[in-house]
Amino acid sequence: MKQKTILTGIRPTGNIHLGHYFGAVKKWKKLQNQDTPFYLEIADVQALTDNFHQPEKVRKNVRELTIDALACGIDPKKTNIFIQSMIPEIAELTVFYSNLVTIARLYRNPTVKAEMKQKKELFGEDGEGITYGFLGYPVSQAADITAFHGTHVPCGDDQLPLLEQCREIVRKFNNIYGDTLVEPEAILSENTRIKGLDGNEKMGKSLGNAIFLSDDEETVTKKIMGAVTDPEKLKKDDPANPDICMVYYYHKLVNQDYVDTVCSECKRGARGCVACKKELIASMLAFLKPIQEKRNYYLEHLEEVDEILKEGTENARKLAKETVQTIKEKMQIHYFE
Ligand code: TRP
Repeated sequence: MKQKTILTGIRPTGNIHLGHYFGAVKKWKKLQNQDTPFYLEIADVQALTDNFHQPEKVRKNVRELTIDALACGIDPKKTNIFIQSMIPEIAELTVFYSNLVTIARLYRNPTVKAEMKQKKELFGEDGEGITYGFLGYPVSQAADITAFHGTHVPCGDDQLPLLEQCREIVRKFNNIYGDTLVEPEAILSENTRIKGLDGNEKMGKSLGNAIFLSDDEETVTKKIMGAVTDPEKLKKDDPANPDICMVYYYHKLVNQDYVDTVCSECKRGARGCVACKKELIASMLAFLKPIQEKRNYYLEHLEEVDEILKEGTENARKLAKETVQTIKEKMQIHYFE
């Protein structure tokens, strides 16, 4: 039985918002406290598969994302944070694995398909302009995971097809070259998709419905004041349905102790929307305060952030080198050693 190792990745394309926090980062914080190695990959090479034309955006977000993760409580003593592009062994594995997956299979990957459709300006109306790199990123993600013997991958359900692709590659590798790699399994978060303030099923930067960790008081206030509530409620003492109200939805996330009161008062018509929003704003600001303090600390100590990334990458690379060595031996492409 192989040792348990947790690995996850995030594309550095923007700052962390509450959707990421409650959908993923909160879970990582719990997982890093187990006695299991935890690797967090800043997947800059993967980010370039659909941002190859804006390298400055990816570069800037490597640091930004690391700062956000640290501010949220990702502890570099417990979590090994590393930069994908600084581990060339991942690129080597990607090439080796590319023999083990067909192009037709990649085209059928539901996640790749869905993303391709969202990126028509890059890949064409029907995906006719899709690049080799984007189509193949599931192969590179399999390399991300297996380079570190990842056995457990915390992720959202959108990542399941990628994980399945990784498992297929692992099985094929083991069949051909002998038992070497482990098939990883998902650790699904309960709350993968956090709704937006506008009621959209997903919070996203591009959807304009997100609260960022870095949002100041004025921004948070403006965003929450504009959040979607029950449209049937016209007067402040009308009873309403909290289940379709985004203000209630966010109370549930940041105000767990108090949420039953919010719910029953809302249903009884004993709670006006403006007061309810003001309460949420206060709780949200209280929730964000310690995160922002930590964020500001790291913004003023960028050399510490760089040190964390350098050290994490160095550690991770040692392991990836060992994996590549083993894999090359199995594939009979080890020479003069
Ligand atoms: N594809 C993931 C995302 O878009 C990011 C990622 C890269 C990842 N490498 C990974 C996730 C390895 C899990 C494991 O969010």
